[in-house]
Amino acid sequence: MKRAAFGLLLALAGVSALAQARHQPPAYEVPGGDARRGRELMGDFGCGNCHAIPGIRGARGNVGPPLTRIGDRVFVAGVLRNTPENLMRWLQHPQQVVPGNGMPEMGITEPQARDIASYLYTLR
Ligand code: HEC
Repeated sequence: MKRAAFGLLLALAGVSALAQARHQPPAYEVPGGDARRGRELMGDFGCGNCHAIPGIRGARGNVGPPLTRIGDRVFVAGVLRNTPENLMRWLQHPQQVVPGNGMPEMGITEPQARDIASYLYTLR
């Protein structure tokens, strides 16, 4: 009897966890970011010369990794945990994070990084 009650409790906890997961916002969201603007900025900065990027015309570069599903990636550049703050940090200062890597410092500002990160997080 006790065991059945415990089982029921576990089942209820599972159902409520599921329900919660469904109502939670996407895992990665950048507060205040504008994904549409980010997409335009990525065109302006020429990210597509080095990266294949879904949704950006002509973005077929193969210098860096494809940004396909970057919104689901666990790490950024293999070293930073993929969080909005870390992704923005990478975009602004890739040479500080991994000195000597192939991605240049492009003078991306914080608001620009916010918008670009918003777009990148739509890629899942
Ligand atoms: C001159 C080539 C070049 C340009 C231009 C460039 N990148 Fe990169 N990017 C790279 C390389 C090379 C790496 C891999 C660095 C590493 O892993 O150490 C990289 C890595 C990244 C990563 C991490 C990818 C992953 O799989 O973890 C992101 C995100 C990224 N770049 C976004 C951008 C965006 C957005 C722009 C434009 C604003 C841009 N890059 C412009 C070369 C470039």
